[in-house]
Amino acid sequence: MEVVKTIKQTRTMVGEAKKAGKKVALVPTMGNLHDGHLALIDEAKKYADFVICSSFVNPTQFGPQEGFDKYPRTSLQDQQKLTFKSVAILFSPPEYEMYPFGRNQTIVEVPHITKTLCGAARPGHFKGVTTVVSKLFNIVQPDIAVFGEKDFQQLVVIKKMVRELFYPIDILSIPTVREADGLAISSRNSFLNKTDRTLAPQLYATLSSVKYKMLAGERQFTKLAEEAHKRLTDKGFTTDYFEIRDAETLERCSESSTHLVLLGAVTLGNTRLIDNISLTLKS
Ligand code: PAJ
Repeated sequence: MEVVKTIKQTRTMVGEAKKAGKKVALVPTMGNLHDGHLALIDEAKKYADFVICSSFVNPTQFGPQEGFDKYPRTSLQDQQKLTFKSVAILFSPPEYEMYPFGRNQTIVEVPHITKTLCGAARPGHFKGVTTVVSKLFNIVQPDIAVFGEKDFQQLVVIKKMVRELFYPIDILSIPTVREADGLAISSRNSFLNKTDRTLAPQLYATLSSVKYKMLAGERQFTKLAEEAHKRLTDKGFTTDYFEIRDAETLERCSESSTHLVLLGAVTLGNTRLIDNISLTLKS
């Protein structure tokens, strides 16, 4: 694996791989790699012979109080984890390579579906994500890119951006990788204190219990979501939202919707956790 810091070298190496007939996959990350990220790489390797993992803590997707400076940066450990994964390139550019003219000079935005859910609580976050992912797509020009369903809204937003900007890239996704107790693996979990870490799996437990109620035939989505919101708050979470939405559009769903997603966002201490479960109901 080559650790590459420049766009120029990345393009040269990708160009050679493509000339040799290789299929190129990109796995964008912000580093601090965990088993969720490594599962994305395994998925990429199923479909591509040349896998690039990018690692860039993107400043433009963090709000002023969202801990950009505190985000864990573990580049040596990341490199070690990737050595066993036969990744071709770890692309870890400095900020001036990604934003040579300064932050927010050119922005890619998917306005409608980023106003709701996490976009409502984190104004500007998704603009930062779509801008940096566009840059990465233009730098690497991969055949495929792999994202996690853990960040469900991010996945829907990126798929929409790819469709509407005609990027010739297949977007693949993998289910959320979890700890043994159900907690979705996240770089942020390391910020939880002992008590909060014990409570955290209740987010997934609550999502699961609503899913089973729906599979058992309950269809009063608003009531189910309100009850789940209350359950989380009673347990000690600060609940940002608990919503049942259409899985393709993220619009509020009607009782005839069949492909749904349950989404929750909570805060424990200063740590924001998100999780979701999607499900298909028989119509
Ligand atoms: P980051 O949080 O590092 O996540 C990188 C990728 O890993 C995303 O596609 C995310 O959905 C996926 N991922 C994280 N935890 C996961 C888990 N437990 N199971 C499966 N997949 C998981 O998401 C970002 O970075 C950034 O917004 C980025 C897309 C890189 C743009 O800066």
